[in-house]
Amino acid sequence: MSEGEKAPIGVIGVGWVGLVTAACFAELGHEVFARDVVPEKVEALSRGEVTIHEPGLAELVVSNADRLHFTTDMEEVLDSAEILFVCVDTPPTHSGDADLSRVRAVVSELTDAGSHLLVMKSTVPAGTGETIMGELPGVGYVSCPEFLKEGTAVQDFMHPDRVVIGVPEGREEGGRRVAELYEPLGGDLVMTDVTSAEMVKLASNAYLATRISFINEIANVCEEVGADVTEVARGMGLDERIGPHFLRPGIGFGGSCFPKDVSALKLLAGNSGYHFQLLNAVIEVNELQKRRVVNKLIKHLGPLSGRRIALLGLAFKPDTDDMREASSLVLAARLASEGAEVVAFDPVAMEGAEEMLPGVEMADSALAALEGADAAVLVTEWPEFRDIEWQAAGAAMNRKLLIDGRNFLDPAGMAEAGFTWEGVGRAEVGPS
Ligand code: UGA
Repeated sequence: MSEGEKAPIGVIGVGWVGLVTAACFAELGHEVFARDVVPEKVEALSRGEVTIHEPGLAELVVSNADRLHFTTDMEEVLDSAEILFVCVDTPPTHSGDADLSRVRAVVSELTDAGSHLLVMKSTVPAGTGETIMGELPGVGYVSCPEFLKEGTAVQDFMHPDRVVIGVPEGREEGGRRVAELYEPLGGDLVMTDVTSAEMVKLASNAYLATRISFINEIANVCEEVGADVTEVARGMGLDERIGPHFLRPGIGFGGSCFPKDVSALKLLAGNSGYHFQLLNAVIEVNELQKRRVVNKLIKHLGPLSGRRIALLGLAFKPDTDDMREASSLVLAARLASEGAEVVAFDPVAMEGAEEMLPGVEMADSALAALEGADAAVLVTEWPEFRDIEWQAAGAAMNRKLLIDGRNFLDPAGMAEAGFTWEGVGRAEVGPS
């Protein structure tokens, strides 16, 4: 490779993190060889078809098609690239641990990988890197945890707050090579040891989840004492030591990361002999927060048996079709167990949601979901829900009741449209 030429990059595992990583490095001018074990996925991506809903991603895959090579063949990747980003998923097991079977499978394919540099992007328990390095003595190893958010992943990749690089002592050269790749993107560089880098990832997600459970509990207290949590969060967030982010109360955090990483860190601590008290509360508060919505419905409607409840939004957050650990799953199940009839609409997540929500009627539009409903619950803050003609929607409903699980709609506007609006940690508003 001549000076100034960009290093070719291998990406192993073309899920959400892998595809964003591959597409963004291609955009930065690298040849990228991305390998996945699912042939249908590889074929679709080779045709430029992206099935993940992630703003800007499909466009990058198409515009960089000449630099992006998708394959099922590990040999092709090993022959073409020295730096290998491991982006396979580590889903939760039943016990709450991270399932490392896909990481293990990759490691077993790399035993003869020679002079390659393995860059671990997958979220793994602290200590995993040390184990892998023991098994792959000839291969370079760098921990480079991922901090992308679904819905803004391309943006996050291109403008990182920080790049964390964990290197084994005495083998800093690998870390420097990875740092060079990220250099054009800016962001603070944290160069540390492998286990500390792994802990940065788990601790960051656990801390953000803790902030959410904290503000959710503050919201619950606000409801009791008559304060407005949005004002409280604003006042808190202006303290530089606190900052304004992740202080939005709601109906609990979901997604593929927070629930998994909080329980993985709790278990990791427990297995290492430390009882992480705080994280038990974070998890419990998150579960209770989902149930409070049902209690609010009962407060307004009485027993829910036979009541028709419309869920607006199903995905765990807007701008994604991801249903993993979405609050809507728990909510729909609770409503069904109360005997309610549940109808739902989500702009992009319905296809995937249908299978996970048997018994829930899927409507073609928000308005169709609201028709004849006794109440609506705003579950996911999709921007288009702000554009609903609430006056007309209310006229089609059986009862004009909106439980706003994300404090997303304007209470005064809803009252004007004849609704009773109840959010999280704010005063209820009745029709004006
Ligand atoms: C999260 C982290 O924010 C990323 O930095 C990390 O890289 C990623 O996990 C990961 O480990 O892969 P993500 O799960 O995509 O990203 O979504 P977030 O935007 O963090 O939201 C997670 C959940 O928290 C959502 O259900 C959201 O509605 C909820 N949330 C977020 C709140 O309830 N309140 C808030 O103030 C913020």
